[in-house]
Amino acid sequence: MKLAIADPPYPPFVGAGGRKNRASRWYGSGQRSRTDRPADYHADAGEWDDPARHRRLLLDLLGTYDGFAIATSPDGLAAYGELPAACRIMAWVKPNAVPGSHRLRSVWEPVILYPPKGRRSNRGGVGAIPDVLTEPAPRVGFRGAKPPRWTEWVLAAMSHDPATDIVDDLFRGSGLVSSALGSEIAA
Ligand SMILES: C[S@@+](CC[C@H](N)C(=O)[O-])C[C@H]1O[C@@H](n2cnc3c(N)ncnc32)[C@H](O)[C@@H]1O
Repeated sequence: MKLAIADPPYPPFVGAGGRKNRASRWYGSGQRSRTDRPADYHADAGEWDDPARHRRLLLDLLGTYDGFAIATSPDGLAAYGELPAACRIMAWVKPNAVPGSHRLRSVWEPVILYPPKGRRSNRGGVGAIPDVLTEPAPRVGFRGAKPPRWTEWVLAAMSHDPATDIVDDLFRGSGLVSSALGSEIAA
């Protein structure tokens, strides 16, 4: 089967206090404060500051892959719009999340999971995968990097079969997802 892990820049935060673009701030040449250290640079990062781009990604993945996972932020879920009935929301809890300016400290990030057809049932004792993973965020100096256990968890939720599946890491970033994929496939 063809599977994808999509970890695009998170959608903009649009609230009463205005709008905060995240994609061009952390991965492009958008507005940022003097203390911000962008993770890397992609010339088209700004396209992810448009919520409609995220919806398009979901529709593209549905048309191209048998199964996929999209990493996003709690407030970013809305940008993906109505999800197919087969989708599940998984929660990655990061106990070491850095406090922000809000009184409510956000310590989790959602993953939109579209498990492949034929791999959604727990009948026959195939084993259930928890929809919550508690794992610290890696401190590798790259904003948005995912720890190896995150990739293993997402693969398990798609019942990944290294013998038959192809997995595309669509937003490489630090390379941690791709290297976890490499060791999974080699194992
Ligand atoms: C959240 S990070 C990915 C983190 C990665 N999964 C990891 O574990 O390090 C998003 C990545 O998407 C890249 N990106 C930004 N705009 C893009 C575009 N238009 N097409 C492809 N990649 C883009 C960013 O430069 C960044 O490397």
